[in-house]
Amino acid sequence: MPSDAVLTGTVALVTGASSGIGEATARRLAADGAAVAIAARRVDRLEALAREIEDAGGRALAVESDITDRAQAEALVERTVAELGRLDTVVNNAGVMLLGPAEDADIEEWERMVDLNVTGLLYVAKAALPHLIAAAEEEPRRVTDLINISSVAGRRARSDSAVYNLTKHGVGAFSEALRQEVTQRHVRVSLVEPGAVSTELAGHNRPEVQEAMRTRFADMERLEASDIADAISYIVTRPRHVAINEILVRPTEQQN
Ligand SMILES: NC(=O)c1ccc[n+]([C@@H]2O[C@H](COP(=O)([O-])OP(=O)(O)OC[C@H]3O[C@@H](n4cnc5c(N)ncnc54)[C@H](OP(=O)(O)O)[C@@H]3O)[C@@H](O)[C@H]2O)c1
Repeated sequence: MPSDAVLTGTVALVTGASSGIGEATARRLAADGAAVAIAARRVDRLEALAREIEDAGGRALAVESDITDRAQAEALVERTVAELGRLDTVVNNAGVMLLGPAEDADIEEWERMVDLNVTGLLYVAKAALPHLIAAAEEEPRRVTDLINISSVAGRRARSDSAVYNLTKHGVGAFSEALRQEVTQRHVRVSLVEPGAVSTELAGHNRPEVQEAMRTRFADMERLEASDIADAISYIVTRPRHVAINEILVRPTEQQN
């Protein structure tokens, strides 16, 4: 890790870091010089990633956390600050996407999406905010970042995605309102909206829904998780006077 990397001396927290976009983002922010707290429920995967980051010369803290539980979400933020010393960057990434027609839906799938994509994200944001405001007054960067991961589904509603659309549209509205509240204190709130990315996300759906998704994206070259990590890295490494409020990233071949 070069000691002059842009995020040297800062601390990042990435939720949903045990796979996909969160894992790639943690790796990338560590390469950019940040000490990273990595959180999810599958602690064995977090520990393997932490070892990999440390072997590459970085610093990582693996924290087992189910952020749908408010006490665990708050403890995650407090442990990050207690062990790594401060909090400059939060990537609110953990999420679940359970699709299918509303008429046939299992209401527990709706609850899982709202609990994680909305309520869990809010728990982390609320607990992190005082620390982000404090770190924005301090060297080395005097600016901090809260990045909420939405989706193309946060821009466009489509059939068979009603509740996922609801959660991601909500993340967009929350992010923009909060951005206005804190931007003059140099806390930048950003929204990242990926199109189809090759991760484990779709694999949690019922078999018939997975089959419909396979058909929809059959011939498309999808994004890699590292493509989204690149966008996040771009946002957080901008100079203090530049705020990237929103980034929508689709695979080139994705029309809608
Ligand atoms: N892949 C795409 O095409 C795509 C497109 C647009 C937006 N997104 C968004 O990108 C984000 C990341 O998704 P991904 O594609 O990287 O999927 P993924 O590989 O399934 O990652 C989801 C992450 O969330 C974590 N998670 C799930 N439940 C959790 C809980 N209760 N508490 C804490 N962590 C939890 C998972 O870890 P554990 O299971 O170990 O807890 C995992 O690390 C999501 O918000 C998703 O909506 C993805």
